[in-house]
Amino acid sequence: QSVPAQDGKRILLAAPRGYCAGVDRAVDAVEKALELYGAPIYVRKEIVHNKLVVETLTERGAIFVNEADEVPEGARVVFSAHGVSPAVHAQAAARNLSAIDATCPLVTKVHKEAVRFAREDYDILLIGHDDHEEVEGTYGEAPDHIQVVNGPHEVDQVQVRDPERVIWLSQTTLSVDETMQTVRLLRERFPHLQDPPSDDICYATQNRQVAVKQMAPECDVVVVVGSANSSNSVRLVEVALEAGARASYRVDTAGEIDNSWFDDATTVGVTSGASVPELLVRNVVEHLQSLGYTGLDEVRTATEDIGFSLPKNLRSDLKAAG
Ligand code: F3S
Repeated sequence: QSVPAQDGKRILLAAPRGYCAGVDRAVDAVEKALELYGAPIYVRKEIVHNKLVVETLTERGAIFVNEADEVPEGARVVFSAHGVSPAVHAQAAARNLSAIDATCPLVTKVHKEAVRFAREDYDILLIGHDDHEEVEGTYGEAPDHIQVVNGPHEVDQVQVRDPERVIWLSQTTLSVDETMQTVRLLRERFPHLQDPPSDDICYATQNRQVAVKQMAPECDVVVVVGSANSSNSVRLVEVALEAGARASYRVDTAGEIDNSWFDDATTVGVTSGASVPELLVRNVVEHLQSLGYTGLDEVRTATEDIGFSLPKNLRSDLKAAG
């Protein structure tokens, strides 16, 4: 889509942006569960880190809880896209809950790596944010073997048992550049540090960062649509600034925009995190258009065609129901 600017003021729209395959699947799982089994469906933690998504599902009958022990015995619970530790599975089983596990398959992949390298008695350095649900889940797979490294500033504190047997893994939604810096510093301390068998930072996180990097040097301001607790959205603000945008702001909705951000701005970039419905981006674009940003161009750096099938037990129940 390309609309010429009337007086030079234009919007650049990054692509890919918004929903990733893991988020799409997790939201779909709750919607399908509500249709099939009826309300209420309990969901442990925010199914994905987006306010609108959580509010919409709540209106439709989902009940969001913090822990499985808040779910009534025997009820149905969905685990969020960020994944859960084995302790949470055990808690759900002890309460006789029917669990639908909407953990993104790319998070499950990191869990499996953690289990495998713990079994092989490696020290695992998990790069990520220790207050993020995904890291809590992965850490819980092998707490005796994993230490969380929050970023380059924590590298000095890391202690390992055997410097010859160390591997790093990571949260799926980090800044690629900052993670590589952390790895470089870790490798200075532990030259035998092994890399993960494949990228842990997922395709969606990487693609959204690459698009912003390409777009940001042309932008005075970059607006990132995404919630404050959405790791990949927060990273997009950092990436935009590092790549040359004069300013970058994160908003949940167009209503949070402060028009003074755009004083003297000719080009405004817009993107969104992996848990953000496109409607919220459209609202931001319309708001900018009302401010006179009449030009519109897309900056596309990749095309995505990845999809994940629904959790297995939900899929078979849907099939059985015809
Ligand atoms: Fe999965 Fe990456 Fe999305 S880990 S949930 S595809 S941001």
